[in-house]
Amino acid sequence: MITVKTEQEIELLRESCAIVRDTLQYVGSKIRPGVTTKELDSYAYEYICSRGAQPSCLGYCGFPASICASVNEEVVHGIPGERVLREGDIISVDLCAYKNGFHGDGARTFAVGEIDAEKKKLIRVTEECFFKAIENLRAGTPLFDIGASVQKHAEENGFSVVREYVGHGIGREMHEDPSVPNFGKRGTGVRLKAGTVLCIEPMILAGKRDVRVLEDGWTAVTLDKKPAAHYENTVVVREDGVEILTL
Ligand code: MF3
Ligand code: CO
Repeated sequence: MITVKTEQEIELLRESCAIVRDTLQYVGSKIRPGVTTKELDSYAYEYICSRGAQPSCLGYCGFPASICASVNEEVVHGIPGERVLREGDIISVDLCAYKNGFHGDGARTFAVGEIDAEKKKLIRVTEECFFKAIENLRAGTPLFDIGASVQKHAEENGFSVVREYVGHGIGREMHEDPSVPNFGKRGTGVRLKAGTVLCIEPMILAGKRDVRVLEDGWTAVTLDKKPAAHYENTVVVREDGVEILTL
């Protein structure tokens, strides 16, 4: 069931989402060659707690960290560890913060030092996919228009879209209805109501769309080992557009 949030609930979501936004920025400022993904996770944990929030990912279905840190061909749900970031890597950081009964959720993909042209384009197009998706989004928009916009922009740029992982509603739970795929047919799906809160999160692959999960049970990687990028914001659907809570 898709719930519509009241303005009071959105006020609480706004706070959780501001913490997500600031944590992503803070973690991003720590990214450089030589840092481990585990260190980035500690920065995120300390920062989220310092704002009076809890990292929603920590312990979620047994996930052992506060952020998902996915490097290069890792698409999503990378587990932070001893891996040392190197010049030329890209890393997506995905995290959620829980405060006052509500979760916020966001992700960014960062460059480690200088990266090649393909990775630069991948990061740029992935962000653009998000903004294409919200361009015409407002109360009354069919749900799958979001995915149609993401897929069109990704494929026009020679990239592909993951089918196995999707965006979602959010609120008192980290994952609520509806599922928000990054692919689909324009004009289909439920018409979104004002006050619906969604996580729109393009996960875009430089190569083919096939992915698999590593033996750790979490990390999704591309089969062709080409890089992937992820960009996510929590947004509120309004009568005349969307309000982005994590920017
Ligand atoms: N932010 C992620 C999402 O939207 C949460 C990752 S699931 C976790 O699904 F278990 F890794 F936390
Ligand atoms: Co999400």
